[in-house]
Amino acid sequence: MNFEFTEEQLMIQKAAKDFAITECLPGVIERDELQKFPKDQIVKLADLGFMGMMVKPEYGGSGLDTVSYVLAMEEISKVDASTSVCMSVNNSLVCYGLEAFGSEAQKQQYLVPLAQGKKDGELYIGAFLLSEPEAGSDATSQQTTAEDMGDYYLLNGTKNWITNGSSASVYLVMAQTDRAKGPHGINTLIVEKHWPGVTVGPKENKLGIRGSDTHTIMFNDVKVPKKNRVGEDGFGFKFAMKTLAGGRIGIASQALGIASGAYETALKYSKQRKAFGKEIAQHQAIQFKLADMATQIEAARLLCLKAACDKDNGRNYDVSSSMAKVFASETAMAVTTEAVQIHGGYGFVKEYHVERMMRDAKITQIYEGTSEVQRIVISRAILK
Ligand code: CAA
Ligand code: FAD
Repeated sequence: MNFEFTEEQLMIQKAAKDFAITECLPGVIERDELQKFPKDQIVKLADLGFMGMMVKPEYGGSGLDTVSYVLAMEEISKVDASTSVCMSVNNSLVCYGLEAFGSEAQKQQYLVPLAQGKKDGELYIGAFLLSEPEAGSDATSQQTTAEDMGDYYLLNGTKNWITNGSSASVYLVMAQTDRAKGPHGINTLIVEKHWPGVTVGPKENKLGIRGSDTHTIMFNDVKVPKKNRVGEDGFGFKFAMKTLAGGRIGIASQALGIASGAYETALKYSKQRKAFGKEIAQHQAIQFKLADMATQIEAARLLCLKAACDKDNGRNYDVSSSMAKVFASETAMAVTTEAVQIHGGYGFVKEYHVERMMRDAKITQIYEGTSEVQRIVISRAILK
């Protein structure tokens, strides 16, 4: 077993780290407070080739492996989880879904600009629309309908909690065509935001990842050409599950980054802050906290890299991605909470960053499948 990264992987890690410090750190507190979408950062990430990292170059991507993606996601998330969630959705839900399951025409029309993150010089990203008011964890209970009208589908319904909801140009929408077939009657449709009948609701006012734009999206008699269905008729739920397995590696890496960002901040602070005549890092209670944080982070990192290696080597990664996500997100919550504790009162105010990291960590236990859902996926596989 070789734990060394390749030169290319190290180069990507360094590029992401430099980017996070020079482009994401300035203004990160203000963007969080004002709920400002990190548009400038996303445009620059697109220029860097980070919005379609794993897409083949012939489809506008950077042709990198999933390990490089994990490394980049960790570095960006250490500093700004609102930017990294946008990056994760575009890379691993939207671009991956289209590259793996889209038709050649869909790839040419949509994947190429989505992987480049730009079209005609303007930001061009995507969103993944599975969740509904009555279908979150219970994702097969889709109420949105895509009625088969011959050469088009008539789309009606409401999706909520959609990341990149207002900034995306393209939506991948899951909807029920044939209710009698249950999950096998669901389709995934490519819908353009500007089409008649599409309405974007107001931005959600959130606890964390406040810079990312989360919206309800409503569809009222939207005509979607048949050529915009991804895969065979009825493939939509499998599409969602297969795509989410890769997405969960992205969110696990986001959680890993939030945890390691908080740990590094707390480690530095513990060597500066003095109490009872010595640096707080000299108190064993603080040392043990740091030891536990470092150990949990290392374990989370190994799980993320294991899932990425499974994907890169053509092995099934349904379980390894769920294990990485549940462990990394629970690590993120535990580590960020301890990072606030190590900062004492200073950890409770915005200037020291760790309170934001603690707020950002929470969502990693909820989206792309809650921790309970990851345990369902893992336990079903174990007990099968
Ligand atoms: N690959 C292929 N097929 C799969 C599959 C997979 N990984 N998982 C399920 N299926 C198939 C099943 O085999 C089944 O088909 P058969 O009847 O032919 O066997 C069908 O899909 C239905 O599957 P289940 O019976 O397992 O469905 P379930 O109702 O028990 O639900 C679940 C399973 C794992 C809980 C699933 O509903 C789930 O993952 N829920 C969470 C949804 C989620 O993660 N949402 C995230 C939204 S995106 C997001 O959040 C983005 C963001 O924030 C940034
Ligand atoms: P519920 O499913 O109602 O769950 C409530 C609680 O019950 C949870 O603790 C859950 O784990 C538990 N629970 C439910 N069923 C079971 C069970 N069988 N066993 C044990 N426990 C169970 N969705 C998208 O499609 N696209 C996006 O881009 C997107 N972005 C998001 C961004 C944000 C900021 C947020 C908050 C959500 C986003 N989501 C997105 C939605 C997200 O995926 C859902 O919130 C998540 O899947 C949980 O669904 P729910 O909120 O309906 O909770």
